[in-house]
Amino acid sequence: LRSDADTASATAHPRDSLLVRAARGRPGSRPPVWFMRQAGRSLPEYRAIREGVAMLESCRRPELVTQITLQPVRRHGVDAAIFFSDIVVPLAAVGVDLDIVPGVGPVVAQPFATRADLDRLPALTPEHVPDITESVRLLVAELGPTPLIGFAGAPFTLASYLVEGGPSKTHARTKALMHADPQLWHDLCARLAQISGAFLQIQVAAGASAIQLFDSWAGALSLADYVQFVQPHSRVALAAVAELDVPRIHFGVGTGELLAAMGDAGAEVVGVDFRVDLAEAAQRLGGRYAVQGNLDPALLFAPWEVVEAQVRRIVEQGRTAPGHIFNLGHGVPPETDPDVLTRIVDLVKSLAT
Ligand code: CP3
Repeated sequence: LRSDADTASATAHPRDSLLVRAARGRPGSRPPVWFMRQAGRSLPEYRAIREGVAMLESCRRPELVTQITLQPVRRHGVDAAIFFSDIVVPLAAVGVDLDIVPGVGPVVAQPFATRADLDRLPALTPEHVPDITESVRLLVAELGPTPLIGFAGAPFTLASYLVEGGPSKTHARTKALMHADPQLWHDLCARLAQISGAFLQIQVAAGASAIQLFDSWAGALSLADYVQFVQPHSRVALAAVAELDVPRIHFGVGTGELLAAMGDAGAEVVGVDFRVDLAEAAQRLGGRYAVQGNLDPALLFAPWEVVEAQVRRIVEQGRTAPGHIFNLGHGVPPETDPDVLTRIVDLVKSLAT
């Protein structure tokens, strides 16, 4: 694997990595860097290896998962791998009829609307996903000192896919259910919190060194609704790995007003999108959490001089938080030139904390 003396030595353990140290607010020589959606369509080697294999199917083949997860680590020399999977994998594993449609996202055959639909969400156990345990074990052995980030979708974001039946801009059905039948909403989210928490636990038990809970669409909510209807369930999901000694990253898009509440749900690191400056985010978080972010993915298409200035600005602002993990403000767009990502990694590696 592409690595340098700073990231890794043959004997180093991932728990001493720059990523885990920054997440815990411990000093490191420079900010660690990785990218959300670093494994994916921006890489020609990904498009080649996925040829003829459906997305959900690819997530269940340990050999494939291992190779895809390693691709961006090998190419870019990022400081962490993120497990190649999807937030809807555990839902499919417990029997929800869904598919990931290319260019669209997760599509659920029968959207959730009534109490009877809860019967379609049994608890997730390790027996549902023996392949996930195997994939993580294979990966951890290959990665050596480079940490593997496990992840899950948060209850709200998962609920939105189940209730809307697919991607939604307004989350109107989801919000209507939340307010019209709060008891059903809480029961649905309690089941999803168990599934998310168990999915995280399974990855950490198999060797993941950190986790990220993706509440990608939580930014659609007011702070009041977030605190009442969502935060208690995300807290349960994050608490599932509280005793396992791994730092927890909690991320959402458009969550500037929710940052402190997302930290308070039980994270060590709060992910910040590009809409809020990192220094401002650190202030809103009251110095209690490390931050992750937050280069605007759209700027990956700007001239290098623009990207460089932004990266330097973000690293400087990151110094105002107890720890900073460099990342984008959201996932890598499929059309990204992968060489730009490699160049960003090299630049961050040249900067001190
Ligand atoms: O590199 C990584 O970050 C790890 C892999 C990863 C995937 N999905 C692979 C994937 C991760 C962490 C996810 C999480 C995920 N999935 C989220 C949360 C992160 C975010 O972006 O906010 C969400 C909302 C989903 C749901 C989902 N799955 C969407 C919106 C899409 C995109 C649909 C499309 O085709 O544009 C997917 C499919 C998906 N998940 C792809 C990948 C690489 C693309 C499918 C393909 O390559 O065929």
